[in-house]
Order: sequence, then structure tokens, then C-alpha cells
Amino acid sequence: MPTPLPTLHDWRLSIDYEGIAWALMDREGERVNSMGRRFTEELGGIVKWTETAAIHGEIKGLVLMSAKPTGFLVGADIREFSRFATEPQIKEVVKETLGLLNRIEKLPVPVVAAIHGFCLGGGLELALACHYRIADREEDTRLGFPEVKLGIFPGLNGTVRSIHLAGPMDAMNAMLTGRMLRPTAAKAMGLIDQVVPTHHNLRWAARKGVLQKRRSKGAPWWKQVVLKQPVRGLLAKQMRAKTAEKVREDHYPAPYRLIDLFEQYGDDPARMRTAETEIFAPLMASDTSRNLRRVFTLSEMLKDEAPKNGYKPKLVHIVGAGTMGGDIAAWCVVCGLQASLQDLEEAQLKKVLTRAKGLFKKQLRGKTAIDSAVARLIADPQGKYIKHADVVIEAIVENLEVKQKLFQDLEAQMKSGAVLATNTSSLKLEDIAKPLKDPWRLVGLHFFNPVAQLPLVEVVHGEGTREDEVRKAAAFVTAIKKFPLIVKSCPGFLVNRVLTPYMMDAVRRYAEGTPRDKIDQAALTFGMPMGPLELIDLVGVDIANKVGQQLGSGSPQDNPLSRLVQAGKLGKKSGEGFYVWENGKPKRGETTYDAAELDRLGRELIKPMLDECERALADGIVVDADHVDAGVIFGTGFAPFRGGPLHYRRSQESGAAAKQAAV
Ligand code: NAI
Repeated sequence: MPTPLPTLHDWRLSIDYEGIAWALMDREGERVNSMGRRFTEELGGIVKWTETAAIHGEIKGLVLMSAKPTGFLVGADIREFSRFATEPQIKEVVKETLGLLNRIEKLPVPVVAAIHGFCLGGGLELALACHYRIADREEDTRLGFPEVKLGIFPGLNGTVRSIHLAGPMDAMNAMLTGRMLRPTAAKAMGLIDQVVPTHHNLRWAARKGVLQKRRSKGAPWWKQVVLKQPVRGLLAKQMRAKTAEKVREDHYPAPYRLIDLFEQYGDDPARMRTAETEIFAPLMASDTSRNLRRVFTLSEMLKDEAPKNGYKPKLVHIVGAGTMGGDIAAWCVVCGLQASLQDLEEAQLKKVLTRAKGLFKKQLRGKTAIDSAVARLIADPQGKYIKHADVVIEAIVENLEVKQKLFQDLEAQMKSGAVLATNTSSLKLEDIAKPLKDPWRLVGLHFFNPVAQLPLVEVVHGEGTREDEVRKAAAFVTAIKKFPLIVKSCPGFLVNRVLTPYMMDAVRRYAEGTPRDKIDQAALTFGMPMGPLELIDLVGVDIANKVGQQLGSGSPQDNPLSRLVQAGKLGKKSGEGFYVWENGKPKRGETTYDAAELDRLGRELIKPMLDECERALADGIVVDADHVDAGVIFGTGFAPFRGGPLHYRRSQESGAAAKQAAV
């Protein structure tokens, strides 16, 4: 009697007429596959079944693949991470899963992973435990180890297996950067063994892989020689230096611990396997990792603001081809939409088309993709496309009357159901909407400059704006791969409102004698992506000054910003502001300051921002504290490893309270 198949919910298991077992991942009720508890337990059942069926000669091999169009397996289910609060709990779960992966590796029949779509983190570690890996070359197939972004590194022996298969240089690089690999790159490295053109070819290739008993051989000897000392030590040193260019060890320890692991045990796979868990567990239990996982959850929360009703905008029309309008149009096109762009000045349109080509070359692969993007960006000086557009965005001069007049014209021409939006940064939505026949239709879509780099868009609703318009606008924002933050119409919305007091307080300290470099170094020590004075130079001293005065944070006449503006020192754009700028970079001073002093100053500098976050929350600018945190992290780059401004403040307070109680 054949071995009975296990009962499954998150997998589908079947045997075909040739004796190949097909285990298809298909998590019940989920859009994507991730390694939740039941999923992993069921994999255990499949492995057990395969062991028995193989011994009885009932099957020739096993293929792991996904039944979901969204992809293979995205790694651990981050929602279940709360199960792993302490180091012993983490070690326990890791040990169980490691045992499972080892049993897969030791199965007596060939095991092939057939990969389409995302194969990330624990998903890739599972694939690495198989005997042979095939991926398709489709555009959305990507492999990678994003763990460092969550404050950990691969903990299911992915460190050892990837080094064995791809060699230490490529494997460490992939793990340290967390970058997503295209299948051809992963094949060139040795992480996968075979690439096929499309997902239609996967089954056939996997079948052949099983029947021909294919098995990866591992990286060639010349890739592995660097594992010997003293070369390994030198490599580790180089890796540390390269990592230090990107992140500080006190903020992001995970890549540094991975390098330690490699340096100490790189040439001894057995010891590296056990040491991996020993180093992994404390990282996973740390506040840093908890906070970074929180950031991930917050990003998912923002994506969920968009309705899941399949609304898919195709054509966006943008009026105003200046700094913002031009970049918004180009970005929409990068994301696959068609964009028509309108401006009074034909020369502006030409400028944007050239600028956009540069972005397409950076963001897209291959001549066909770039040519098709160029064709999707349409110069439309007469606004012929307005009536066809699914989304219309205004990004013209910041002048109420001019905007009001334009919106009346747009409203008359637009199709019903299309989103109508303004990119205004300081005008009241209600005022702009006043002359419209349907003023409840207008939403704000507040993009940040530079559009291509900043992930957040504030979706602004006025007093009476219809909820479905706001949701549609949020769906548009997710369609262009940004995070929508729904905010109430108010001066500065959320991001500029909380940034301004922080920047103005830094200016005040500077005016009172704190050195420029000390201020900016202190902000970096706290974990901000750049110092507040450098940020002002980048935004433009004139713009920062205007916003400061509008939001009531800057003193009206005689302040350092006004003085700089009067002297024509507008920051990066004029070549000088707080810094002298050369080749697009600020010339920083040489002095370095005492670490403890910088730490203290950094925390003080951030205080006005935290206070303003509290006020914004109390004013109901966004729905809750998590949304404040999400907006400020993605809108300002607020130290992600601290989990967001309010989360940081609350944890400081509870830490202080705990200390007090202990005294
Ligand atoms: P900009 O001055 O670079 O561009 C404005 C463009 O609109 C110009 O090309 C102008 O010829 C065109 N224009 C003016 N009136 C027009 C009309 N009636 N019809 C068609 N085109 C017209 O301005 P920028 O910086 O791009 O700002 C645009 C809007 O975006 C403003 O509302 C601003 O407050 C907002 N914003 C700006 C940010 C920035 O960092 N520059 C950031 C976020 C929002």
C-alpha cells in the first residue's frame, strides 16, 4: 500500500505518472507564500512522507515550487515573529527548522527547487537546502537575502550553504547588501544552477532535473581558496571597511556580526553552522531588529491603505512640468503607467523629456524597456489627454488664484471617476477646491523632492473630501510603488510640520554658537540620514526659511536663514549655504567631537521633532501613533532602527520608568 499523503492546508502534494512528487506551496488565505508555523510544520510532514516513500521506491524525486503567481517564498512570516521574543525561544524554533532543512538535504532522492517570482530570505535558504535549483528569467523573479534590512542575517544555515555554492565573495556580498538578484546574476554566482525563459518552462526543467538526478557541485576551488587564512582575514577587513561606508556598527550590528562569523569560521562549515545560530539569536532578540521589523510592518500598513478592489490607473495627466511635475511624470512612467505632461512653456516640456531619459536609463533594463518608457511619456501642451486620464495631478506655481482657475478647467474636461489632485505644499485644499462644482472630489498628493528617491506620498483630505476619492488616490500611490500616508489638510501636513521645528531649532543652536559640523554630526549619531543644516542646504535655504515662517517656527525678520538668503547663499543650488558645495557635495569640517557629547546633543536636537509629533497626533493629522511613525520614517528618514519617533519616545519613557522602579 502506498505511503498515505499527509493532510495539508498550505501545501499541495501529488505524485505524477512518472513517480515525481510535486510539493506546491500555496498558503491558505494568503496572497504570497511565507514560512508561517503551519506552513513549516506541513513541510515537515512532506519531508517525512518523502523519506518513507523514497525508501519504498514509490517516488523518483521531489520538486518544490509555488502554486501562487506572486512567487516562490518570501521567507519567514514577519507577523509571527512575536513568538520569538527571547534567545532560547529563537534557538528552539531555529533548531527545529534547521533540522528540517538538513533532512531535505539528505533525502535519498533528488530534490529540485523550481523558482518563479520572489525567493527571499528563508525562502532562498530552503531552496539552497535542495539539491538543484532552477529559476525562470521573468521580470518579477528575484532572489536575495534581505535579512540585514531586518537587523539579522540568514539564520537557517544560509550563510554556510551560500558560501559553499557561490563562493565567499559573492555570497557575503549578497548577504551584506541584502540586494535582490536577477536569476541570471544568481546563476552566474552559482546560487542557482539553471535558468529557463519563462515559468511555463519550469515544470519540464524540474522534471528533467529529477529524472537526470542533477545536483549542484558547489563553487569551484578557485572561488574557495580565499577562505584560507590570512586571505580570509584580509577579506573580512575589507568587508568591514565597505560596510562602514554605509552603516554604523552601533546602529546596525547585523552585517558586522556576519563578518565576524565569516572571519572566525569561514573555512569550517560544521562549526560555522553552530556558530551561526549562536550569533543569530541575540541579533534577532535585539531592539534594533525588533524596530526594523516594525518598520517593515509599518510599510505594509501603509500599502494596505489602498482598496483591494483591483483599481488600476493607467494614464496620469500632470499639469506643470517643473521640478515636481516633470519628476512625478517620469516616475509614473518608470512604474509602467502612461503619463501626459502639460505646461505653458514648451521648453519646460523638452527639458523634462531629456531629464526623464536619464532616469529611465538608471531604473530600467534594456533598450526595449527604455524605448517603451520614452514612448509612454507624452508632451501634451494643449491638455488633449485630460479627458482620458485616470488621475490628474496639478503641480504648477504655488498661487491660489492660478490654481483655482486651472482646476475649474480641469474639472470641466475630466472623465467621471478620475482622481483629481494637487501637489500643493502650503495652500489649503478647501480653498483650492472652493470654485469647483464638486469640491469634495479634490485630494492632495504631496510628493517629496527628489521624487524618484523618497518613498512617501502624503494623500491629503480636506474637510469634506469623499473617502473613496482618498482611497483611490492611495491606490494610485501604491501603483507607483510609493507608500501613501493619509493626512488631514493642515499647514505642513505631517512631514514638513514635524521637520520644521527640528530644523529651526538646529538653526537657533547654530546662531547661538554650536558649530555647524557638531550639529550635523550629532544628528548622524542619533541615526538621521543627514544633519539638519545640510538638509536645509539641500532643500534650499530660501524655501526652508519660507516654510519656517509659514509654520511659525522661524523668527520673521532677522534670523540666520534670512541673512543667508539676503547674501544669496541659498544652499546647494547656489553653491553655498551653511556649507560650500563642490561637485554636488558639501565641504565638511575636519573636527570630530566627543562621542558622548554627540550622543547627548543628537537626542536634544531630535526633541522638537518628537514634541511636534505628539501635537500632530493630538490634532488628529493622521489616525494613530503608528501612522505618525510610518510617515516620519519614510518621509524624513528618521533613524529606522529606533522604530519611529513616537515609538522611540515611548520606549525611552518605559525604559526610564523601569530604571526608576528598579532603584
Ligand atoms: P516649478 O516652478 O519648478 O514648476 C512649475 C511649472 O508649472 C513651470 O514649469 C510653469 O511653467 C508651469 N506652470 C505654471 N502655471 C501653469 C499653468 N497655468 N498651466 C500649466 N503649467 C503652468 O515648481 P515646483 O517646485 O515643481 O512646484 C510645483 C508645485 O509643487 C507647487 O505647488 C509646490 O508647492 C509643490 N511642491 C514643491 C516641492 C518642491 O520641493 N519643489 C515639494 C512638494 C510640493
